[in-house]
Amino acid sequence: MQNIEILSVGHYVPSKKLTNADLEKIVDTSDEWITTRTGIKERRIAGEHEKTSDLAIKAAEQALCNAKLTASKIELIIVATTSPDSNFPSVACLVQKGIGAKHAVAFDVSAACTGYVYALSVAHQFLLTGMYKNALIIAADRLTTMIDWEDRDTCVLFGDGAGACILAKGRRKGILSEHLESFGEYGELMKVVIPETRHPSKPKHGLGTLPYIRMRGSELFKIAVNSMAECTELAVKKAKIKISDVACIVPHQANDRIIAGVARKLKIPKEKFFINIEKYGNMSAASAAVALYEAVEVGRIRKGDYIVLVAFGAGLVSGAMVIKW
Ligand code: UT7
Repeated sequence: MQNIEILSVGHYVPSKKLTNADLEKIVDTSDEWITTRTGIKERRIAGEHEKTSDLAIKAAEQALCNAKLTASKIELIIVATTSPDSNFPSVACLVQKGIGAKHAVAFDVSAACTGYVYALSVAHQFLLTGMYKNALIIAADRLTTMIDWEDRDTCVLFGDGAGACILAKGRRKGILSEHLESFGEYGELMKVVIPETRHPSKPKHGLGTLPYIRMRGSELFKIAVNSMAECTELAVKKAKIKISDVACIVPHQANDRIIAGVARKLKIPKEKFFINIEKYGNMSAASAAVALYEAVEVGRIRKGDYIVLVAFGAGLVSGAMVIKW
């Protein structure tokens, strides 16, 4: 079996912060409610002219720099996003152009908050077969463009950002296992509502109003805890290690209480989880990617550690991956 390792990580978050105090002025909420129910203190908001591809390019450039690789050497680019600049071109193609990766094949993967795990898994298969020698994987989302700022159930939760990594064949063990799950039957629990669509039979139809996110939070909560715990257990089993061997779990950051629930279900201390939700809120696919970057940066993940990347999101989709760092 080939070793496919993560050579480097990168990230980018916009500079503009939106605090809980700022949100108190927009909707009927409180810092106390948001902090105790979610763990979020503030989130980053992309600038008006800062598109998802701009966030993705910055994260990609940092990952390339950390790997000491030039963009022209990259063979595959996959971007996990559900908030592309537009339906086409793909964000991956915009990144290809932006960084000058002229020899790469580029496409997007849509798996909401689980996008980073899905995209890594797709790239892993391409590298295992030998079709490509390396891959640039980016998770970038700008969900704040799809927020109904009058809906306190959702507007307090999300932020913008991007994380990236370079995958390549290596000497180290790298990715040991992955486990992905999809539950289309629960799609109604979290969706983007598109108020109006156009059709050729109605040529004079207007532009419509903007899409926005609606979700049934407490129903999602229970499924999130169960499926993140289950995916972690199954990926750990496939990697032929024990959960006690895992040094750090990097989860999707939807809610601090969801992470606590996963820890309880797995019967491991919550301290094993890397949590940065207080600074960024839920950045969709970018959450786990930025958390992985920060966990490496602050030394929570060291060479030789077994780590788990685990996520859950709209679809519903979930997945986990065990990596020997
Ligand atoms: O990224 C992957 C997808 N996302 C998720 O999986 C998110 C999963 N769900 C959650 O994280 C939580 O369910 C939420 C944070 C969304 C909500 O927390 P909750 O503890 O499940 O609250 P709830 O929806 O049951 O609402 C409890 C109360 C309600 O008031 P009443 O009916 O009890 O009077 C809500 O109206 O809290 C109220 N509420 C708020 N109050 C102040 C809801 N949002 C807010 C708010 N500020 N922002």
